[in-house]
Amino acid sequence: MARILGSLTTSHVPAIGGAIARSLHTDPYWKPFFDGFGPVHRWLQDARPGVVVVFYNDHGLNFFLDKMPTFAVGAAAGYGSADEGWGIPTVPSFTGHAPLSWHVVEHLVGCDFDLTTCQEMLVDHAVTVPMTLLWPGRDWQDRGIKLLPIHINTVQYPLASAARCYALGRAVGEALASWPGDERVLVMGTGGLSHQLDGQRAGFINKDFDLQFLESLVHEPRWATRYSIHELVEKTGTQGVELVMWLAARGALEGAGVAKVRRTHQNYHIPISNTASGLLLLEPA
Ligand code: DHB
Ligand code: FE
Repeated sequence: MARILGSLTTSHVPAIGGAIARSLHTDPYWKPFFDGFGPVHRWLQDARPGVVVVFYNDHGLNFFLDKMPTFAVGAAAGYGSADEGWGIPTVPSFTGHAPLSWHVVEHLVGCDFDLTTCQEMLVDHAVTVPMTLLWPGRDWQDRGIKLLPIHINTVQYPLASAARCYALGRAVGEALASWPGDERVLVMGTGGLSHQLDGQRAGFINKDFDLQFLESLVHEPRWATRYSIHELVEKTGTQGVELVMWLAARGALEGAGVAKVRRTHQNYHIPISNTASGLLLLEPA
């Protein structure tokens, strides 16, 4: 059985990549955000993940509106990034873990999830920015860290429900628990928290909801699954709905047999670009 180290969920705003490129870590605007990662870096020194399973949404780099899978699992030997037009650097490519990917795919299809499997896949800022936040040296290759990316569509309607995303995560956790290898696995979810980039409510942020959501992930992880996608958009903004990645990551812990979690670290800061930035590290209790 893979060893589940915990779940790390975070926002994935492209401007963070720009701030890193310009070394703005101690700039007053950015400091409260970057300081949130100090405890995570210390935790990673002991946790030493060998595999990162990341739930994220592609924003038009690998999938465009003409072909948009609801759920897609990477099963490639490696994953590159590319210029998305945000003006942020591309990063060194990620090594994949194809055998584990196919094990996850077989379990998910066996659980009636109708997936797209990707033997070629580029990953966008929703993966590259959070990975750089965790490993600022972008030395995941040298560290032998492998990536297993799982895309959940939050861009092209209709979207899978929050409950369905939780169930997907749960099934991924079951697959990790039934994997015969002893890999040290960190589950990640990226996106959110509340933000809206377009329309009349552009700039919308809902701190009350975000904080309630963060609390719920510790003790009542299905709390947000009571809401429909449209209710979540109303409460968190058109892009705030990316919080389903956090639900999938939390579901993966449950599916892997983690009955209780403890909150090792949390940070919440408004705003980063247009987004309420959140960071939550949960470990098996
Ligand atoms: C922003 C946030 C996102 O989640 C994203 O994918 C792109 C931009 C922003 O706040 O600028
Ligand atoms: Fe996004």
